[in-house]
Amino acid sequence: MATDPLLQPFQLKHLTLRNRLMITSHEPAYTEDGLPKDRYRAYHVARAKGGVALTMTAGSAVVSPDSPPAFGNILAYKDDCVPWMRALTEECHEHGAAVMIQLTHLGWRTRWDRGDWLPALSPGHAREPAHRHYPKQLEDWDIARIISDYADAAERMQAAGLDGIELESYGHLMDAFWSPSRNQLTGPYGPQDYDSRLRFTKEVLEAIRARVGPEFIVGIRYVADEATQGGITRADGIEITKRLKASGHVDFLNVIRGHLETDAALTGIIPVQGQPSAPHLDFAGEIRAEAQIPTFHAAKIQDVATARHAVAAGKLDMVGMTRAHLADPDIIAKIEAGEEDRIRPCVGANYCLDRIYMGGAALCLHNPATGRELEQPHHIAPAETPLTVTVVGAGPAGLEAARVCAERGHAVTLHEAAPHPGGQIRLTARSHRRAEMMQVIDWRLAECERLGVTFHYNSWIEPEDITAAPPDVAIIATGGLAAEDYLSENNELAVTPWDILSGDAAPGRRVLVYDEAGDYTALQAAEMIAEAGGEVEIMTRDRSFAPEVMGMTLTPAMQALQRLGVQTTVMWRLDGITRNGNALTAQIGSDYGASATREVDQVVISNGTRPLDDLYFDLKPLSRNLGEVDYTALRNGTPQTLAPNPESSFRLFRIGDAVASRNTHAAIYDALRLCKAL
Ligand SMILES: Cc1cc2nc3c(=O)[nH]c(=O)nc-3n(C[C@H](O)[C@H](O)[C@H](O)COP(=O)(O)O)c2cc1C
Ligand code: SF4
Repeated sequence: MATDPLLQPFQLKHLTLRNRLMITSHEPAYTEDGLPKDRYRAYHVARAKGGVALTMTAGSAVVSPDSPPAFGNILAYKDDCVPWMRALTEECHEHGAAVMIQLTHLGWRTRWDRGDWLPALSPGHAREPAHRHYPKQLEDWDIARIISDYADAAERMQAAGLDGIELESYGHLMDAFWSPSRNQLTGPYGPQDYDSRLRFTKEVLEAIRARVGPEFIVGIRYVADEATQGGITRADGIEITKRLKASGHVDFLNVIRGHLETDAALTGIIPVQGQPSAPHLDFAGEIRAEAQIPTFHAAKIQDVATARHAVAAGKLDMVGMTRAHLADPDIIAKIEAGEEDRIRPCVGANYCLDRIYMGGAALCLHNPATGRELEQPHHIAPAETPLTVTVVGAGPAGLEAARVCAERGHAVTLHEAAPHPGGQIRLTARSHRRAEMMQVIDWRLAECERLGVTFHYNSWIEPEDITAAPPDVAIIATGGLAAEDYLSENNELAVTPWDILSGDAAPGRRVLVYDEAGDYTALQAAEMIAEAGGEVEIMTRDRSFAPEVMGMTLTPAMQALQRLGVQTTVMWRLDGITRNGNALTAQIGSDYGASATREVDQVVISNGTRPLDDLYFDLKPLSRNLGEVDYTALRNGTPQTLAPNPESSFRLFRIGDAVASRNTHAAIYDALRLCKAL
């Protein structure tokens, strides 16, 4: 174990990092009033306990008020953040992890109508596409003020006891000076040569050093190749790297390749499900070889084997496994315990990141304790009284219920009507691009097997099967079935996306996919039909396309759909279908009063699922709690004690899509918060 390259300490100036795994900066939007309070601290402390060597807190903590928080960023320009950062740092230090923070001025990558309504800034006038606004072009007094803001923020972090800071220089203000296409300034900070392009960076570094001294650790996360026409080139990147090193002010580099002004571009820097693993690792290694100073990097290094290779092959000094730590805070602890195969895998679903861009907080698709450390456990405590538990349904909700109950020490039996586990995820994973989703199932299966859960497949449960020998608790996780009742008549003329995905319906030639749900299902069916040669139009009544599929997740889907020539139509509604010889006529309406028709030979209607709840309702009157959930207890994490029918010996609960059509995270969260207190 001692020879594992990942477990070797790394010396960064005076700081000994206990191993080679770090969490790169990422703003989970857990701030309250722009401050990293208890929720924020608990999140990082959980990872410190799990053994990570360095956690780079914040993502883009903002140094100036005219860098309004775009996604819940820490307001590093406020003195109030010092005590909160100190508390976070001290607690992480107690568990052996070093703590730094990323500081930035967001420049154009925010909006003027947030925070204090100060104009967002850029060295040019160009529209920022991700936030859809036009920035103010920087003036000389802006530059002077912001340089001093950087130094103030760095000093605050030093006062809070942090081990160091990292400057963000990709897609924000600092790198905009470097970029010949974005920098339209004239004068000393213009784009005319490297000296002027890097003048702002140099002055920021000098101002910071003047304030924090030579010992405090200062690094930079920077783009060394924007990999786009007119952007910062690889040659620029090498020159910038040399100059950063030559400044004598930079203690580490954290390498980025790509650009991020659109969702699609951002997935090049932060690849999602179905995209290549570690796409920029070799590039980062080349920069390390060139620079000869400590080099960090993260980009879809999801598994320990790749991380180990990155260190062993001398490509990186510290390996960022950021989403991997969102999914499992205990990566190092599990490596050290020889339980690497028990690491809960990051499946690249990007629910975490997409949520912050939609104004929410980062949540992991299949670890609902992440970001909820104050209420939900990463480690399940054993129950005082072991129970017998029967779970019906081996989708994500049922498997999570079985896992958590088994961790509690209960004797768990799981019945699944199908020959295989997985439920709807099995359908999702039929798309090659989304095959990683099966790890949500596989990880739970392996944990359940380790914990001794008894599985019965092809096992259709009738109410008598439960009542004949009642368990203490029956959990119905039977999921849902694709809804077939959207139209007031002629629903039989349409098929569901599930029919397409499962192969029950052959893809048509001219196909209207009507998307009432707004989620991924319609896109997946459309792609499958188009791949089979069909001419497809996806239509939705919503104002935006696939509104439940967030930006980065949508990117690979759109790339495929546009390549296949799929048409997308928003703000039109399917009102009816009639048969017309061998073809179908779709009547199209609009919430705005217009109408139209489409002649097609197949209509696919995506309208969520309807609960498969017969078993639940049959058992409900026979159960001790009559199926009732005490929501107060559920929210407080205390046991369910309702017993309106005390004659009965078994309690009955229903979770996941068996309750209502929602998503994988909701299904797993249902299971965790119910079962952790059973
Ligand atoms: C929720 C979330 C927020 C992020 N915010 C930032 C940020 O503010 N600044 C930054 O440099 N990177 C940010 N990142 C990117 C991560 O630091 C990292 O580069 C990215 O997740 C790829 O590494 P991974 O594949 O190990 O997760 C964020 C990532 C996530 C998941
Ligand atoms: S939401 Fe998806 S990408 Fe994000 S940490 Fe969880 S599994 Fe990984």
